[in-house]
Amino acid sequence: MEKELFDDLVAALNESIEYERRNIKHLDNMNIEYKKDLSEVTEAMFLGFFEGWANPPSAATHLAILQNSYRAFVAVDKECNRVVGFINAVSDGILTAYIPLLEVVKSYQGMGIGSNLVKLMLAELENMYMIDICHDAELSTFYAKFGTFRGHASLFRNFTARYINT
Ligand SMILES: CC(C)(COP(=O)(O)OP(=O)(O)OC[C@H]1O[C@@H](n2cnc3c(N)ncnc32)[C@H](O)[C@@H]1OP(=O)(O)O)[C@@H](O)C(=O)NCCC(=O)NCCS
Repeated sequence: MEKELFDDLVAALNESIEYERRNIKHLDNMNIEYKKDLSEVTEAMFLGFFEGWANPPSAATHLAILQNSYRAFVAVDKECNRVVGFINAVSDGILTAYIPLLEVVKSYQGMGIGSNLVKLMLAELENMYMIDICHDAELSTFYAKFGTFRGHASLFRNFTARYINT
């Protein structure tokens, strides 16, 4: 085999080994830390959330939403100190809680991070009678894994709400 061709092959193999190594590491979830205490979480750590939203809240507003929530958890990739997933709940603190937001950054989806965030939040809310989540129809199976059942809801959305684009 010509040397140039051989070198190309070695380079391609190394690239593919490195790719596998990164993926396996992420699959192990080794670098993900789940945090309830947001005191060391900064807005600079948020990137890539509210995928598909026409007017997503800014990183500062995103952090404020979590800080103002009854409970919130973030998943942080310790290697790059970036928030890669979050969940929040609003509540009366006694009977009722609502989980308005759950999202995992696209490149980190399918690794169990979303499920871990839901489990952490349900454990945190374990004494609540009502824990409600509204979601798109295709997510019914995802949430059913945690013991939810399907019901009816009536929704109101104020599309000109103040936080949009702030
Ligand atoms: C929903 C979401 C948080 C799941 O996070 P994740 O880290 O990818 O989830 P996990 O890896 O723990 O679980 C993946 C499982 O959920 C299923 N799932 C994830 N997103 C799904 C979707 N949009 N539709 C149907 N199933 C979905 C996967 O098929 C997988 O199922 P399996 O365990 O049987 O293989 C993530 O896909 C996301 O951020 N989506 C966009 C925002 C969103 O829809 N949030 C929910 C608002 S209520």
